[in-house]
Amino acid sequence: MSRPVRVAILGATGAVGKAMIETLLRRKFPFTTLKLLASARSAGQVVHIQGVPYTVEEATPESFADIDVALFSAGGDISLRFAKEAVARGALVIDNTSAYRMDKSVPLIVPEVNADAFSTHQGIIANPNCSTIQMVVALAPLHRRYHIRRIVVSTYQAASGAGERAIEELRETSRAILDGRAPEPSLLPVAKLKNHYPLGFNVIPQIDVFEENGFTKEEMKMVRETHKILGDESIAVTPTAVRVPVVYGHSEAVYIETELPFVVDDVRTLLRDAKGVTLQDDPTRQEYPQPYFAAGHFDVFVGRIRRDLYAENGLNLWIVSDNILKGAAYNAVQIAELWLRQEGITA
Ligand SMILES: NC(=O)c1ccc[n+]([C@@H]2O[C@H](COP(=O)([O-])OP(=O)(O)OC[C@H]3O[C@@H](n4cnc5c(N)ncnc54)[C@H](OP(=O)(O)O)[C@@H]3O)[C@@H](O)[C@H]2O)c1
Repeated sequence: MSRPVRVAILGATGAVGKAMIETLLRRKFPFTTLKLLASARSAGQVVHIQGVPYTVEEATPESFADIDVALFSAGGDISLRFAKEAVARGALVIDNTSAYRMDKSVPLIVPEVNADAFSTHQGIIANPNCSTIQMVVALAPLHRRYHIRRIVVSTYQAASGAGERAIEELRETSRAILDGRAPEPSLLPVAKLKNHYPLGFNVIPQIDVFEENGFTKEEMKMVRETHKILGDESIAVTPTAVRVPVVYGHSEAVYIETELPFVVDDVRTLLRDAKGVTLQDDPTRQEYPQPYFAAGHFDVFVGRIRRDLYAENGLNLWIVSDNILKGAAYNAVQIAELWLRQEGITA
């Protein structure tokens, strides 16, 4: 069956929004109209997509009146302002921000893991945090087979996770240090806080603000969202989220403990066969995932798989993925593809 498929992207001029446009094209998403929305700052800007000019419009509630699927990626407060307005006008909202992720009435979906939650939506579906997405894609098959009791994860997160301006700040601070000038950061780790640190030639163990328990908001997202997506609040998750001077691609050193025993080669087979995972795990050939090579790809790359030295049911893994693609734009488009399937629309 074919019918018009009207898509809007809110935040179309941002790091994730641009990747959403690219991903819709790469996936041959069958949109018949595409509306690019941003703030008044970018309204009037012309973007050429496959040779066709599209003019960026300032988002208003009425922007969503004739839209089937709206991909939101303009920040949490903008989602809070527009998501319900868009739903009221008949659009399905796929929200890439943290605004609705922990709302009990909003499914939080990673299609490889819990696509079945799609049918429970009431107009809004949330796209999880980038670090959580890549971790659960790799861990869900292991949880199903061996039941994970504990996860200890340290992230190595790219600048692009903090938006276009953070990429620029990484470049600027690196350039200043290479030139022997004092770097002048004004954005990272958190724009609204007093102290800013250079990301060039540095590693910053703070992503987002601190909560009262000493963990950052980014770290607590990894705890709460993992529980919601895997449907299991009993998993003990201990995250440390760190920003590193990489432009694209988050990496994660992950240690898990399982209830059931495993054979390491079986874990490899399970991951080799897992949807959305590419296994890169051959120490004899120095094969392991790296963000430099994962950038631009949709999959989650897993390697450095080894049993722990001290805990029989302990396993170490290294998980890498493009934070802008699987961590944001591609996961959102995959959710939109679930909608296509529900509507019986083929490309
Ligand atoms: N980067 C990631 O890895 C990642 C991953 C997952 C989720 N996210 C989330 O996705 C959102 C966007 O991230 P990003 O990295 O793409 O940020 P970004 O590069 O800073 O882009 C922000 C976008 O939002 C638009 N915008 C800002 N204020 C607006 C307003 N008042 N009305 C309408 N549009 C407005 C901007 O438009 P103008 O051009 O008009 O300013 C721009 O298109 C954030 O909530 C972020 O947490 C990011």
